[in-house]
Parts: sequence; structure tokens; C-alpha cells
Amino acid sequence: MDHFLYRDGALWVEDVPLAEIAAQVGTPFYVYSTATLVRHYRLFDEALAWGPHLVCYAMKAASNQAILKTLAAEGAGMDVVSGGEYARARAAGVPGDRIVFSGVGKTRDEMRQALSGGVRQVNLESEPEMRALSQVAQAMGLEVPVTVRVNPDVDARTHAKIATGKSENKFGIPIARAREVYAEVAALPGLRVVGIDVHIGSQLTQLDPFEAAYAKVAELTGALRADGHQITRLDLGGGLGIPYTRSNETPPLPGDYGALVQRTVGHLGCEIEIEPGRLIVGNAGLLVARVIYVKEGEDRRFLILDAAMNDLIRPAMYDAHHEIVPVSDPAPGAELAPFDIVGPVCESGDTFARGRLMPPLAADDLVAFRSAGAYGAVMASEYNTRALVPEVLVKGDQFSVIRARPSFDDIINRDTIPEWL
Ligand code: LLP
Repeated sequence: MDHFLYRDGALWVEDVPLAEIAAQVGTPFYVYSTATLVRHYRLFDEALAWGPHLVCYAMKAASNQAILKTLAAEGAGMDVVSGGEYARARAAGVPGDRIVFSGVGKTRDEMRQALSGGVRQVNLESEPEMRALSQVAQAMGLEVPVTVRVNPDVDARTHAKIATGKSENKFGIPIARAREVYAEVAALPGLRVVGIDVHIGSQLTQLDPFEAAYAKVAELTGALRADGHQITRLDLGGGLGIPYTRSNETPPLPGDYGALVQRTVGHLGCEIEIEPGRLIVGNAGLLVARVIYVKEGEDRRFLILDAAMNDLIRPAMYDAHHEIVPVSDPAPGAELAPFDIVGPVCESGDTFARGRLMPPLAADDLVAFRSAGAYGAVMASEYNTRALVPEVLVKGDQFSVIRARPSFDDIINRDTIPEWL
């Protein structure tokens, strides 16, 4: 069910008209639908209901406290990749035993932080990192559950900047060396091997790369067990893609993915963890902006918005496509015309779409970027001293600002002037 629908000629989020939020909060802003977040989480949870499992939301996709609390209340665990994310998860009330610590370069400080607060497992990504964690755990008198992230050398067939499972990527250890590395981990004091971790990339729109990777993990499970390791948990990563256009994209659904997991690794009797981010929050969020000007160029027409690349970097960074729709439903039969849709930042890269067919729009009209919930607000910056874009959460007919727009004083006062200046 879609919780972003036109009613009475205007776009609503659940039971709140977007124009009402815009009037109260100002633009641009991100808005999320609680019902969509919860529905997406439950789809994954149900897809793995055939066995013991934990859905660990990859909070890098959107890490506002209110989003984390919404998912944690559903029973979600969290996948964190930094001390900051760990602190956010704990602040949102997520217990340590539901937090998985991933990431390619955890510092000793971050390890100490996670170990003292409690952690379900640490996913290790290199030999030096294993030795560091062993020393930290030993010094704290603890034994930490660990997995090793293996790099299965599988082509995820996604954008190069978000593929992680090829041998040329910095992630994990080559699967061919896994037995040797596990032997070393098992011998390190303070570490207790509990399973295997794999993550091959993000925005995967086909299941076969997952299938190839998980088949390799299944085979490795057998080999490691034969070597005497206790493999009781498989962390299968995230990465399931979402449709960014409404027309021809039909990425697999969580249910298909769950069946694939069961087919490939279900017979091993392991507890399954997955780390979805984008699919949970991507289509649960919009970025709403206002048209500042319609500018007639020499041979093109520009729609200049009050949102810019600092608010949503995905088009500039990954050539990502986001649907951009008018908040007021255009009159039936309204003629579409091509626009370059841009922000006010002083870079040509600050372009959201070129030649995009749009209905007639004028200054002050509102537009919404669809599928902007994942890797939107979290990747925003204050470039050009544009205030960090606020976030709003809707639940039924209520909405609340869950991160306020900072004032210019807030921004400026974060700088300090040295005494000697
Ligand atoms: N687990 C690990 C270890 C990851 O590195 C990631 C994403 C995930 C889980 C979640 O993947 P998801 O289910 O969201 O696809 N900024 C980029 C995406 C970067 C993904 C990084 N890792 C974008 O805007 O497309």
C-alpha cells in the first residue's frame, strides 16, 4: 500500500497534506511515513519467519532517532558502522545485543565503546582489525562474538560506487583465504567465532548475485565447520534494491529474497541476520522543495528549486534518478514539457534532472522527490552555508519535526575564533 497519494488534487503523506507541513516547517524538508517504514520492516521479518533471524536495519540509510525508535519498537536490530551510529542506536533505546558492528576500519576507541555498551557481534574485515579487537577485548577481560566478512568476488551489477563484493573492492577478506583467516581468528584470545558475514553491494535489482554469494557462503560454512569452527549465525548483509521509477523497474520483493535465503542457506540451521537499509526507508521518504524561479535559458528551461545537491547528493554523486512530482496534482491532460531541474548551489553538478518532462510549474509551487528516504538526509551537508535540511515524521494524521532546521546563528556559532585572531 502506498502512503504517498494524491487526494483532493494534492499529495498527502498518510493523512497529512504535504502543503500543510510545508506551510509550517518551510522548505526544503524530508518527510517520512511511519506506516511505510513499519510495513517494509515487517516484510523482511515475515520473509525470514521460516527460521531464527534478526533484521538489523542498516541505519546509515537514515539514522534519525525517531526512525530508529520506530523500527526498534518493531523488534529491529541495528547494523552500525561507526561509534557515532553505535551511540545513536543506544540513544534510541536499542539494546547492545541487537547491535551488529560492521565497517571496514573500526578504531580501537570505537571497539572499546561498543564492547563496554554491549554488542551482538563484530563483523571483522581484515587481519589487522582482528588483532586490534583481540587486544581491546583482552584488555577489557571480555570475549567478543565475531564473524569475518568474506568478499565472495561476485558482481552485484549495480553502480560501481556502491558495489562492494568484487575482489577489487576494499571490503572483507577474499573468500579463497577464509579458512586460513578463520584459523587465525579462532586462535586469538578475546574473540569467539560465531558465524560468517557477507555484503555485496547496494541497490541490487536482481536476485542472482545474492544467490551466487550465498551459495559460496553455504559452501564455506561446511568447510569451516569441518575445520572445527562453530558457525551458528550468518549475516547476509543488505542491498535489496527499490524501484526509483514507477514504470519499468520491478526489483525483487523481500518475500522473494527470503525464499532465496531459505533455498541457499536454510538447511544449515544457522540464525540469519540481514542488514537492509534502502528498502526499509527509501520509499518511505520524500524530499519536498519549492520552485524559486522558472528560468528560460537559451535552448532549455530551468526549474530552480530551493533544494540543492547539499540536501540530496544522490543525483550528483551516483547519477541517480529520482522521480520529481508536483505536490498539486496537475489538471488532467496538462501538457508535459522538458525542464532541467536544478538547485541554487554554485556548481553545474547541482542538477537533479535534465530534460525531465514535467507538467506546468511556476514559482512557489511545491515539488516532491520520491524515493528519497534512504541516503538522503544522512548525506546532506551545509555546503554554501545552506542550513541542514530538516526532517519530519508522519504517523496517521499527526506530524512532527524530528530534526529542526538550524538557524544561521546555530551554524555560525559552531565555528570558534582563535584567541590570537
Ligand atoms: N550492510 C553493509 C555492510 C553496507 O555497507 C550497506 C550499505 C548495507 C548493509 C545497506 O545496504 P542497503 O540495503 O541500503 O542497500 N549512498 C549510497 C548507498 C551506499 C550503501 C553503503 N552500504 C546511495 O545513495 O545509493
